[in-house]
Amino acid sequence: MFRLTITALAVTLASATLWPLPKQITTGSTTLPIPNGSFKFVGQSENDSDLAVKRYIPLIFPHSVDESGDALDIQVTIDDESSELQLDTDESYKLSIPESPTSDTPITITSKTQFGFMRALETLSQLVEFDFDAETYSIEGAPIDIEDSPRFPHRGVLVDSSRHFEPIQTLKNVVDSLAYAKLNVLHWHLVDSQSFPFDSNSYPLLGKMGSYSQEERYTPNDVSDLVEYARQRGVRVMVEIDTPGHAASWCEGYPEVCPSTTCTEPLNPSTNATFDLIEGLFKDLTGGEAKAGLFPETLMHLGGDEVNTDCWTNTDAVSDWMDEQGFDEDDTYAYFIARVQSIAHSMGREVIGWEEIWNHFGTSLDPSTIIHQWLPGSKVGPEVTEAGYRLIWSTDGVWYLDGLGVTWKDMYAAEPTEGIAEENFNLVLGGEGCMWGETADTSDIQQTIWPRLAAISERLWSPKNGTQDVEEAAPRFAEFRCHLNRRGIAAAPYDNEEARNAPGGPGGCLDQRRV
Ligand SMILES: *[C@@H]1O[C@H](CO)[C@@H](O)[C@H](O)[C@H]1NC(C)=O
Ligand SMILES: *[C@@H]1O[C@H](CO)[C@@H](O)[C@H](O)[C@H]1NC(C)=O
Ligand SMILES: *[C@@H]1O[C@H](CO)[C@@H](O)[C@H](O)[C@H]1NC(C)=O
Ligand SMILES: *[C@@H]1O[C@H](CO)[C@@H](O)[C@H](O)[C@H]1NC(C)=O
Repeated sequence: MFRLTITALAVTLASATLWPLPKQITTGSTTLPIPNGSFKFVGQSENDSDLAVKRYIPLIFPHSVDESGDALDIQVTIDDESSELQLDTDESYKLSIPESPTSDTPITITSKTQFGFMRALETLSQLVEFDFDAETYSIEGAPIDIEDSPRFPHRGVLVDSSRHFEPIQTLKNVVDSLAYAKLNVLHWHLVDSQSFPFDSNSYPLLGKMGSYSQEERYTPNDVSDLVEYARQRGVRVMVEIDTPGHAASWCEGYPEVCPSTTCTEPLNPSTNATFDLIEGLFKDLTGGEAKAGLFPETLMHLGGDEVNTDCWTNTDAVSDWMDEQGFDEDDTYAYFIARVQSIAHSMGREVIGWEEIWNHFGTSLDPSTIIHQWLPGSKVGPEVTEAGYRLIWSTDGVWYLDGLGVTWKDMYAAEPTEGIAEENFNLVLGGEGCMWGETADTSDIQQTIWPRLAAISERLWSPKNGTQDVEEAAPRFAEFRCHLNRRGIAAAPYDNEEARNAPGGPGGCLDQRRV
């Protein structure tokens, strides 16, 4: 039997449609018909995997055919039925498709967790093709054996719901699309200077006064609904509350937490009112203990970026307090960060901060702090990891999705471990594409994110040495963009002059390029 092993070259029919590329795939040359247009998943039955099967059957078989006959069996084995999704959740799976499956040698999916099973379903869905002339489904290139697992555990997108409000349905659509690219994190930049769209039970004036309008707010139930929706799709929702900068909207409801009404941020470090409010808000979000509350996610992002201390030194009440403490601006910034981190730690959270906190405080930060690299041209990764701190990679100008001139090829060429010693690779948790919200709302968020985020998804999922040739990846990338379009995701033409531009004229999905 002719079998081809590919780790580097994605040239066979079977893998020509797979995105992101699996860790390992072997294929044959037989076309396996799926005569009755459906699969029957037998063996394991857990609630999350059952829900996943219900979602995927119509995605795998979008054209209805005569389904009167029996469906083809897929034997499922899932080791651990846990419904908990965290950073260390195993997403590996094996998918084996014999040349001619029988009840004794069926198609099999094996995974450690229900979430690995979901990743296998996505791969399977990308292998099934429809023949419009015969009106039948088939899989090309059987037998197929796939062994797959992600290169990095943290692979996501940041969505900013402060610069523009993003309705829950918009965020659910984003979550759907993340799962199609095997991404597993929605980093929810919930609030910022421009608006505070969250209804805090402890401090209700935050949302009431700080949001754009009555309708542009999330209730706690909205949040838990989204978090559960995402979990069922293998997507962790990680909240960010950015302090002490990026917080001017807080003063609308609680002016005492800001230096003054005319100089509003960074938040006022000189009064306990500020930290009491932060503690109350964090309790609303975390339930006050590990793995609880609206965001059971262990990681919590505390921002800490772009702190301009002028409002501290220019406000008498604050500068007098700084003098009393013997604090300069950086001491005050350090005090603020440490105090907020300890509130989050007391609620069982591990914290992430934007890279400025590393640049200011380095190894005086709590060693469990995760550094989020973002500054344009930043090369902070090697020193952060050399000091034993963990890293998430999102460099502006490369993985910032609001940078409309950045092409998918630039995003694909990025390497989060660049310059980092091999023994420290395990400290690189992964990365995120950042969808800052200044020019993105429901009208254009999907086409700003997609298809470029897929370049990031393959960089973070697939082995490095199989995914270095961008030209080789291009046909698969174009195909994946059409795959997203077929599922109703508004992925823009993939090689536009400017990201998210609509097609410039008539043409097939694969031909939509530079206009
Ligand atoms: C990729 O790297 C792995 C591990 O170092 C190695 O086993 C494999 O042969 C490499 N594949 C290619 C195509 O270089
Ligand atoms: C799924 O099953 C587990 C274990 O039986 C249970 O704890 C969990 O609540 C169930 N989840 C849903 C969404 O029904
Ligand atoms: C399709 O259904 C027919 C009629 O029930 C059955 O004979 C055939 O085995 C089925 N095909 C598969 C692949 O299960
Ligand atoms: C402010 O809070 C700190 C820490 O909880 C406490 O030590 C201090 O006494 C408080 N200050 C006032 C004025 O209440």
